[in-house]
Amino acid sequence: MRLKDLNCVVTGGSSGIGAASVERFVSEGANVLIADIDIDSASSFADEMGPTVKAIKCDVRIEEDVKAVADYAYSLWNKVDVLVNNAGSELNQTYDKTTLEEWDRVLDTDLKGPWLMCKHIVPGMVKAGSGSVINISSLNGLVGFPLSTAYGSAKGGLVVFTRDMAIELANTGVRINCVCPGVIETGMMDRWTDLMPDKAEAQEMLKGTMPIGRMGTADEVAGAIYFFASPDSTLCQGSVLSVDGGFTAQ
Ligand SMILES: NC(=O)c1ccc[n+]([C@@H]2O[C@H](COP(=O)([O-])OP(=O)(O)OC[C@H]3O[C@@H](n4cnc5c(N)ncnc54)[C@H](O)[C@@H]3O)[C@@H](O)[C@H]2O)c1
Repeated sequence: MRLKDLNCVVTGGSSGIGAASVERFVSEGANVLIADIDIDSASSFADEMGPTVKAIKCDVRIEEDVKAVADYAYSLWNKVDVLVNNAGSELNQTYDKTTLEEWDRVLDTDLKGPWLMCKHIVPGMVKAGSGSVINISSLNGLVGFPLSTAYGSAKGGLVVFTRDMAIELANTGVRINCVCPGVIETGMMDRWTDLMPDKAEAQEMLKGTMPIGRMGTADEVAGAIYFFASPDSTLCQGSVLSVDGGFTAQ
């Protein structure tokens, strides 16, 4: 129960890595607010998790939605201890076939969203003199891939955003760090393999890219997110943690 009575906001917390983080936080004694564009899934997951978990509809690209999340969180608890910027949107497309709408969707969800969440939630943390923000980037933010200009730019931007914020917040008691997952078995990965001509072959290919020979699980990433939320990471500020089965060690 190392997060007992801590108040946590998790964007995109109704599925995959976000949902695994919500489960881990709850098992450690935290209260959680899930902010998700898919309010039906978020509400039923919150009901399933019990009275310490609430849900609110939020598109992280829209400032009014983000402000409503911050207002709701502070009205519920007066204090937010942990913010996980996990909501994400992917794209597999060449730079020249990427449309303006696709570029904006990916950059707005994966980079503007975390900034907006910080803009509206972090000032309260600064006032309280404590808090932990965890941004979920990707190995696509660390190394180059084909078909990844929009997604990789957003995730690489999020790594740099984390470092810049870490310096701005360094003397405030608020920590901000970043987790870069590798190939993780979630809905996002499932949608990616659905686009391939042979799904099973694509899944085997993905496993082959991971030095450990398998995809990661959402729970394994949630463990790293929990580390940054917990008091075990008090010296981490602007850290970028790869959780990728050795991918970026190659
Ligand atoms: N699965 C992987 O292999 C992998 C690898 C590296 C990084 N990531 C990152 O991890 C994070 C979680 O991904 P996942 O694999 O669990 O995906 P997922 O598709 O299972 O979950 C994404 C969640 O974000 C929500 N969401 C999407 N757009 C939103 C928006 N505009 N506003 C609010 N909520 C929104 C969805 O409703 C969903 O609940 C993402 O940021 C993703 O880029 C995933």
